[in-house]
Amino acid sequence: MENEIKLTAGAVASLGIATAALVVLPYVQVRDIAPPAGLKPYTEQQARGRQLYVSNGCVYCHSQQPRDRNFGPDFERGWGRASVPADYVYDRPHLLGTMRTGPDLFNIGARQPSEDWHLGHLYQPRAYVEESNMPAYPFLFVQKDAAEDGDRVVALPPAYAPPGKVVVATREALDLVRYLQSLVHTYPVVPAADRP
Ligand code: HEC
Repeated sequence: MENEIKLTAGAVASLGIATAALVVLPYVQVRDIAPPAGLKPYTEQQARGRQLYVSNGCVYCHSQQPRDRNFGPDFERGWGRASVPADYVYDRPHLLGTMRTGPDLFNIGARQPSEDWHLGHLYQPRAYVEESNMPAYPFLFVQKDAAEDGDRVVALPPAYAPPGKVVVATREALDLVRYLQSLVHTYPVVPAADRP
């Protein structure tokens, strides 16, 4: 009987310590973080694009968390400064990502602001990066014989444009690109290590 009590007490203590260290402490550390002045909440369109980023699995290949310069060459790769918790105040769920099959996208809006480029790259990544192994997302576009009023025609490199047709971006494609363009975290912040 005594052993059972010890075992239960030990299990409860271990669980308690783990919960405190992994749940309570991080919550206390980040709960009062204020949004940085340079960070804007997502617009409705950007938020819709963010949903598409999730549902199309972009997060499986792209991270959104450049590392500190002491931990890796992310800054040299042009991915920007190390991210801090405040950068993510509007992110639910967060899309930090765990894999980098493709580049980190935390500052893709600053690195690549062109809507034409993003639309064309989503339609066919190989049109822009010859050996890209990113999947194409042609279902975010429609092919038409001729453009109609209000259509956003995608300007593709001639070799990739379907002959005799125009490629028109759907609302989804435009929403997703708006989200990508919103990924600009170049405003100054106090690095996590220097915070009081
Ligand atoms: C199977 C892995 C994979 C998936 C899934 C994927 N990508 Fe990529 N992505 C890559 C690779 C590899 C590259 C680098 C080559 C290139 O630019 O095409 C890349 C490049 C990019 C770039 C250009 C980055 C730069 O720095 O030039 C953007 C933007 C991008 N992807 C957005 C997306 C979006 C949006 C989705 C989801 C709709 C997505 N990716 C899904 C692998 C992936």
